[in-house]
Parts: sequence; structure tokens; C-alpha cells
Amino acid sequence: MTIAATQTFPGPAWDELPEVTVLESWPPREQLPGVEVLLEAVVPVGLDELRLLPHLRLVGNYGVGYDNVDVAACGERGIALTNTPGVLDAAVAELTLALMLACRRQLVASDRFVRDARWRTGWSRPEQLGHDLAGATLGLVGMGRIGSEVARRANAFGMQVIHHRRSDGLPLDELLRVSDVVSLHVPLTPETHGLLSRERLALLRDGATLVNTARGAIVDESALVDELVSGRISAGLDVFADEPRVPERLLDLPNVVLTPHIASATVETRAAMTRVLVDNVLAFLRGEPLPNEVSA
Ligand code: 8YV
Repeated sequence: MTIAATQTFPGPAWDELPEVTVLESWPPREQLPGVEVLLEAVVPVGLDELRLLPHLRLVGNYGVGYDNVDVAACGERGIALTNTPGVLDAAVAELTLALMLACRRQLVASDRFVRDARWRTGWSRPEQLGHDLAGATLGLVGMGRIGSEVARRANAFGMQVIHHRRSDGLPLDELLRVSDVVSLHVPLTPETHGLLSRERLALLRDGATLVNTARGAIVDESALVDELVSGRISAGLDVFADEPRVPERLLDLPNVVLTPHIASATVETRAAMTRVLVDNVLAFLRGEPLPNEVSA
């Protein structure tokens, strides 16, 4: 059975796979007959790509989010899809808190201030004061595994945590109106695409902070950039609508902290994700049920 991958994945579990062909480019330049298993991360796997892999039977998606994969097209072709849920919740929650702290306490701007030798007045008269997390209201959009881990950590910081999800919690517009910090923890689906529209972003309080470690396209990115350029709100952004492109107008703003989609990027978590990916492939090779199969 031929296994192809768009890259290698870190951690010892990777070595448990039989031979893997690491593809030089994605999409492949020509048809790859014989490839039955594809291991990939964040690359598009749509109709055009599936046509290049006529014998494909399994897509192993490295990541919990699989919005890059055309699930319906896979289903129609009898191609199974697996993802890596459950092992990255803590890592993503940690980066979410880090971005919150960085924005509310002006961590990055302060670091730059010191390095630029602009610190001349002593500690009692900083140019600008930050805001406590303690006592602030955190509005979570989405309250699944990752949202719940963020809530636990935010509670430990003394934040008042409220949430919105389909089944319960506050209506989204109300949550946006009353939160000091809003953090997104929903998957990108047709339903959540553009969920934070220009109109909804306008509901955020003056001085509020938006944190996004989910998917860039959940927010109307150009509306968000407009809000950030105006200085009305701040944001900690790990994800963008068209990665790795980051809107140019954000680059010089002091009220934005930018990271390159690293929420799950720790040695421990990436190895655990590889473990889950590999376990699914091994189950597939043995003809056993797939532990993390996703369906349309
Ligand atoms: C990336 C993620 O997929 O799990 C997700 O949904 O966004 C991340 O973990 C990961 O960086 C793999 O490339």
C-alpha cells in the first residue's frame, strides 16, 4: 500500500509507519496512481486534488480542524477522513491565554519599547496602562473541548467567563456587547464563515480585545483590519483568512499581537498529534475501525 505525505510529522510515532513517500509539491504535478493513503496538514484537499489521487482511500488530516478538506467529495468517493482531536486542547488554550495576556498587558509593545531604548521615566509613569484579566469578562464563542480548557484557565485568572454556542449560552450579539475579551473556539464551517461580520465587530466595546486561535475566515478580516487600524479594539491573532498572507496594514499596529498559526506548536502536542494520526493509519492498514473518522 502506498502512503504519501505532504510533509513529515514530528515525534516518535512517525517511525511506526511503513514507508512513506514525502511529496515534493502540493498539489502533485501529475496523477499519482497507487497512492491509497494521504497524510496532510492544512493543504487544500478538494475535487482537483482528489482527481490526482485516483486510488485514494484514506486522508489523515494532521489537526483537529479539517475545513481544508472537501468532506463531501471524499465521502462520495468512499475515501475515509480522520483528524487529531483531543490532544491539542491544552496547547491551544495556553496560546489563547498568552495572546489575551499579551494584548491586555501590552507585552509585545512593551518589549519593543525597552529594546528601542524609549524607557526613560521609571516604572510609575508608563506611557499607557494595560488592563487586568482579573475581573474582566471573557466571552467564548464556542464551548467545546478547546473552549472549555480556555474557560478553566480564564477562571483561574479571575475572569468572568460567559459563552455562546448553538445549544446554550448567551446570544452571540449580546456576548459581543458585554465582553472585554472575546475568544473564538468554533470550527470553520459554512455556518461559521464570516460569523464575526462587520456589523457584529461593531458591537464590540471600545477597548475590547478579540483573540482568534480558531480560523481566520470566521471573522470578516477586512472589517477587523479596519477596526484595528482605527485603534478602537485590540486583537491577538494566530490565524488568518489566507495563510501565510497577513494583511499588510496590521504589521505596524501596536494594538495587535500576531503569531503564525502556532497554537498547537509544542514538542509535546505535535508528537501527540502524530501519535493520533499514525494510530488511525495503522488501524486502517489492519482493516480495523478508525478511531477518529470524520464524516460529512
Ligand atoms: C494545525 C490546527 O492544523 O488542529 C488544528 O486545527 O489548526 C493546528 O493544529 C496544525 O498546525 C497542523 O498543521
